[in-house]
Amino acid sequence: MASGDSLIKLFKAFKENDQVEFTKIAYDIIEDERKKNHYLLADKLYKALFSDDFNTILKSRDFNSKQLPVDKESGFQLMDMKFPKLSLEDIILTSENKQKIDDIICEFEQKDILQTYKLYPKTKILFCGPPGCGKTITAEAIANELQLPLLYTRFDSVISSFLGETSTNLRKVFEFAKEGEWVLFFDEFDSIGKSRSLDSEHGELKRVVNSFLQLMDNFPKDSIIIAATNYETIIDKALWRRFDEIILFGNPNEEAIKNTIKLKLRNYPYKELNIDNHISALEGSSYADIERICLEATKKMILKQECSITDELFTEIIIKEKERKKIIRGIN
Ligand SMILES: Nc1ncnc2c1ncn2[C@@H]1O[C@H](COP(=O)(O)OP(=O)(O)OP(=O)(O)O)[C@@H](O)[C@H]1O
Ligand SMILES: [Mg+2]
Repeated sequence: MASGDSLIKLFKAFKENDQVEFTKIAYDIIEDERKKNHYLLADKLYKALFSDDFNTILKSRDFNSKQLPVDKESGFQLMDMKFPKLSLEDIILTSENKQKIDDIICEFEQKDILQTYKLYPKTKILFCGPPGCGKTITAEAIANELQLPLLYTRFDSVISSFLGETSTNLRKVFEFAKEGEWVLFFDEFDSIGKSRSLDSEHGELKRVVNSFLQLMDNFPKDSIIIAATNYETIIDKALWRRFDEIILFGNPNEEAIKNTIKLKLRNYPYKELNIDNHISALEGSSYADIERICLEATKKMILKQECSITDELFTEIIIKEKERKKIIRGIN
């Protein structure tokens, strides 16, 4: 068994939400078990902690010196480390976007070859599109495909109410990320882009944007940076130029609606559901809306102890979802 000290440290790291420390201690515990010839237990613990796919990278990773950065005033962690399992197969993409993403992955996987010709892979990517269209999950899937951890930063958590602290936070995020190979994901990127173009608070925000751009420009090409935004039109043109690739996401068309339903219901029975009957009612919905409808319909079917989702049930849920959206629109 792991020593009492290790367990106390592990629990502390969990309580403090310190993923790096937690992973490091857990890793040490596994190694201890291995040294005691408890191979079976060590392997099971290993599997529980890391997916098989990540074994190789994690083994070579030095966790000792890594502490996720925090905001000085609030003490909040500025970023999160994730090991996504999602595959690109789980995402409905237009063929154009699929091609762009495949190219990003292919170039990155072969960056050594490119470098011998003094060429570099695309590593600065901007995702634009309305809510619920797959920006975040695509960033996760890219990390998974490249077998890299995802460093997740919500832009608004970096923005500090204390003057000057925001640029320091950004620098901390980039400093941390410089030390390894990751997909560095900036979610809600519009929180700065938006404010800048609205010109509400010149000085400080301008500095933030500039320091972000500088940090991004000087960032080593060992990692991929992805920024995601809902407000593509109001992001400053100066920002757009700095990205190697821009991917526009949108709501699903008829075919994509159909494929989304099939994908989301693939593990549940739906032989009494004629998907074609519902396409027009779902036009204009996001992927996330359709996913929610599919999940609701599945739960209802299970609790009613029925053996298939039916057209009637699906229609009922679509109507409810539309009412829910009306309320949300009213609030906003
Ligand atoms: N293209 C897609 N294919 C399959 N599922 C999708 C797709 N887009 C979104 N989803 C589903 O919708 C949910 C929301 O997706 P995601 O978080 O990636 O959206 P987003 O574009 O990042 O939205 P936001 O702008 O609100 O952050 C997820 O649970 C995901 O499974
Ligand atoms: Mg998102």
